[in-house]
Amino acid sequence: MDRVIRIGMLGCGTVGGGIVQILHREADDITVRTGAKLEVTRIAVRDLSRSRGLPVPDEVYTDDPAAVVAADDVDVVVEVMGGIDPAGALIRRALELGKPVVTANKELVAQQGPELYASAKAAGVDLAYEAAVAGAIPIIKPLKESLAGDRVRRVVGILNGTTNYILTRMTEEGASYEDVLADAQALGYAEADPTADVGGHDAAAKCAILASLAFDTSVHGDDVHREGIENVTATDIRTADRLGYVIKLIGIASEVDDQVAVRVHPAFLPKEHPLAAVRDAFNAVYVEAEAAGELMFYGRGAGAEPTGSAVVGDIIDVSRNLLQTARGAHESHHRAKPIRPIQDLTTQYYVLLDVADRSGVLAEVATTFGDHDVSIAQVWQEGSSETAQLVLITHRAREGDLQATVDALKALPHVRNVASVLRVEAEVFAQ
Ligand code: NAP
Ligand code: HSE
Repeated sequence: MDRVIRIGMLGCGTVGGGIVQILHREADDITVRTGAKLEVTRIAVRDLSRSRGLPVPDEVYTDDPAAVVAADDVDVVVEVMGGIDPAGALIRRALELGKPVVTANKELVAQQGPELYASAKAAGVDLAYEAAVAGAIPIIKPLKESLAGDRVRRVVGILNGTTNYILTRMTEEGASYEDVLADAQALGYAEADPTADVGGHDAAAKCAILASLAFDTSVHGDDVHREGIENVTATDIRTADRLGYVIKLIGIASEVDDQVAVRVHPAFLPKEHPLAAVRDAFNAVYVEAEAAGELMFYGRGAGAEPTGSAVVGDIIDVSRNLLQTARGAHESHHRAKPIRPIQDLTTQYYVLLDVADRSGVLAEVATTFGDHDVSIAQVWQEGSSETAQLVLITHRAREGDLQATVDALKALPHVRNVASVLRVEAEVFAQ
């Protein structure tokens, strides 16, 4: 094979290392599948003094990412440095120079997707980002290509490996949040700033990308209603378990009344729910489409080689197109749907209250729910003497009404604390 496609990488940390290893290990088959040899000619990193132990010559490393983008011996740019600046400007420059770009950067795609797609279109080259959502799982291509003839109704996913790993170990081992987060960081699952994971920002960015593709619209990361797992307590996890649920950080995007509803938050899922069985750093994406029906995608959502696999698949894809002077499938925003306010969501809720253990308190609490049109499905009391805990599960209610209920509960003299409020997605596959 005489043709060579030369790859310039921006970043070589967890994901970059995985990419270089896969390209080296699978080189022969990749060459045949691509129709050209893929060669890493340049790699930009921050710290040139660090030995990376990768199968590339030392001369490929530089600390000048702009030089990688501009280099004559770089045909395809792979951005795995992360963040918005300078990654966004570097990608735009690469596209302007007519170089296809592969990125794993969900934060950037969720914030600047439409501008980046426009730059790629203007340059007539590909911008591929399969690894940006759910690591190894092919989900961008299925939404953009395989389901292009169908109408997607809903996408529900466990989209963040770090939080799923943390919640799994808290559930199964009773491990502490801090210890498990440190393990997730050591395993290479967590973002450089792990608050992006635990605060739900990472999952929200992924959910925005999926919603945009699923509904031919443009959902910005900030459009996603977002709550993280920081406030999920051992009591919530134990209570969920006793009631037949597990707590998962989920992303849900759907079309309701010509609006796009898109949210990321921890939720109670019934133990028999397929997403409840997704453990550790695994991710899963459930897609409901008009003609195809229900589809489930499952796999490793983070880590060097799983993410590297998705990036290398994209590199082969854009390289094949480059060899034929073609472009792959592109995004469309033609339906331009407004975002549905979270107050209009209807779902079930779990509410945990610390209350004074006195006669009449339960009646007061029940009246407060009733006054705001929130119907209680189950209630029981735990604890003793001075302070008791009231656990309530509601029927389906409007989020705005539930929020008003919580505000009113906080004002009741015998309610000492609204300890937890979580959504119960008991009917997520049946709504
Ligand atoms: P990482 O381990 O922190 O690696 C980042 C790399 O970029 C490092 O090699 C770093 O250099 C380099 N870098 C950062 N800023 C730079 C700059 N200004 N100039 C030159 N080099 C710079 O991050 P990662 O986990 O591989 O993640 C990379 C991207 O993939 C992120 O967008 C992330 O969201 C995404 N992603 C990650 C995973 C995962 O499992 N980790 C999965 C899917 C997607 P040094 O090595 O010298 O510090
Ligand atoms: N930090 C991310 C996660 C990496 O934990 O899922 C994959 O995007």
